[in-house]
Amino acid sequence: MKITIINGPNLNLLGKRETDIYGKSSFEDYFKKLTRQFDKVELTYFQSNHEGELLDKLHEIGFSEDGIVLNAGAYTHTSIALADAIAAINTPVIEVHISNVFAREAFRHHSYTAKNCVGSISGLGLKGYELALRYLIDK
Ligand code: DQA
Repeated sequence: MKITIINGPNLNLLGKRETDIYGKSSFEDYFKKLTRQFDKVELTYFQSNHEGELLDKLHEIGFSEDGIVLNAGAYTHTSIALADAIAAINTPVIEVHISNVFAREAFRHHSYTAKNCVGSISGLGLKGYELALRYLIDK
């Protein structure tokens, strides 16, 4: 089983960025934990700050892999192109947000991408990625 976690802009700064909101762990450290925890799954991690690279990655893996966990960061709230890419591919996508976007600024309450995803997880910290993986594996 192949699952890729895709993180969008600024998520390369996890552990350094607004730690009161996003926590003190880098994603690389958390990803190591996930690979140990889900050792039967072929787990890959991709991060980009560039919208086009996120689109290219969805196109590349979206017809062959079994699941995608996507935190599109701020592009969630702006990108029709990412929404279209999720609709275009076959692989199920789960949207994850580390923070509770609904408890934050109004511009974070709308997601272009969520309606084309299987479901969304918001506000459960990094644990949201683990829960999304569990859903994809159990399914
Ligand atoms: C985020 C929430 C977004 O609103 C924000 O732009 C991010 C991170 C989250 O994981 O909580 O970059 O997707």
